[in-house]
Amino acid sequence: MRLSNLELLNFRNYENLSLVFEKDLVIFLGENAQGKTNALEAIYALAMTRSHRTTHEQELIEWQKKEASVRGTIEKKSHKVLLDVCFTKKGRRTKINHLEQKKLSSYVGQMNVILFAPEDLALVKGTPQLRRKFLDMEIGQISPVYLHNLVQYQHVLKQRNLYLKQLAETKKADELYLTILTEQLVEFGSKVLFERLQFIKKLEYWANTLHQSISQQKETLTITYDSSIDLSTDSTMKSIVESYQQALGKTQKNERFRQVTLVGPHRDELLFFINGRNVQTYGSQGQQRTTALSVKLAEIDLMKEETGEYPILLLDDVMSELDDSRQLHLLEAIEGKVQTFLTTTTLDHVKEKMTVEPMIYYVEQGKIKGESA
Ligand SMILES: Nc1ncnc2c1ncn2[C@@H]1O[C@H](COP(=O)(O)OP(=O)(O)OP(=O)(O)O)[C@@H](O)[C@H]1O
Ligand SMILES: [Mg+2]
Repeated sequence: MRLSNLELLNFRNYENLSLVFEKDLVIFLGENAQGKTNALEAIYALAMTRSHRTTHEQELIEWQKKEASVRGTIEKKSHKVLLDVCFTKKGRRTKINHLEQKKLSSYVGQMNVILFAPEDLALVKGTPQLRRKFLDMEIGQISPVYLHNLVQYQHVLKQRNLYLKQLAETKKADELYLTILTEQLVEFGSKVLFERLQFIKKLEYWANTLHQSISQQKETLTITYDSSIDLSTDSTMKSIVESYQQALGKTQKNERFRQVTLVGPHRDELLFFINGRNVQTYGSQGQQRTTALSVKLAEIDLMKEETGEYPILLLDDVMSELDDSRQLHLLEAIEGKVQTFLTTTTLDHVKEKMTVEPMIYYVEQGKIKGESA
């Protein structure tokens, strides 16, 4: 899919902006604090009805104004869709082809975007929590069932932990209650685990394809699911349940002592390996960046596989974080395939690497001037 035009009203520092995108590579060029990220944020908001950098949507409304709106046309294989999101002080309104949408779920999904910003580079080096969140968000985008099971799991986990605390305080155990909670925990937890394993297999395939291309075939990327439960990538639902029960059995004494559930999806995470060596521990900064980039960009093909259309790619200030050769291979990997919007403060070393002609927009204090390169 591609975005063919964008109209902003009172969005951040854009009072009134109207752009037409005729090319599939669009560059927002400008100095710091001019509105480059704001422009990408607007495109992200058109797809997701929320910002990627704040949970307070009021911040999107230009200071002193009451409402902000983002409008755009999405061209898909067989048809066009007109999207419209309006942010008010009270909340948001969305429209598809001028028709107001009551439910968020009927709006989100019309337009798919993947955003990659410098903070995403922390995916590899950051906390395990960050990688769990990444997994949950990405699988959630393509599987509503996953989200459902995850919410149920978190609910049971909370109850079970609460009960383990009570148990330590009162010393009176209602074994039946704990058994029921444990059964539910295993039921939802196993479903979450199963989907995570399936997803990681696909993610690894696409991420490695990209990683090999970016590293000029010198590096192979593997991704493993580091679980608190003994699992293998080919685990069936039945074997997951069995291993889960075994793991809980083994930690039974310890979890009563520590008063928390010690095994399960909430304790698991992702590990990345380049040529068999752990990237988190042994990888150079550049390798960690390439890994984060490959993993994130793997979603392009994953989404195409799941939805039938390529998503739109938003790259915020990413080029400056990569060395020359990685920039080149990144561009090769995306050009001619996905419509890409990228922000940069300088075109040095970027333009000559591009094989498709970009459309360059100059961003200055909330105004954007276009000019063909
Ligand atoms: N609600 C708002 N109303 C008006 N202006 C805003 C609003 N929110 C942010 N801004 C302004 O937008 C500007 C920042 O824009 P943005 O983050 O897009 O910069 P940028 O071009 O990406 O810069 P950098 O290269 O440093 O990342 C700031 O100057 C800020 O004052
Ligand atoms: Mg920025």
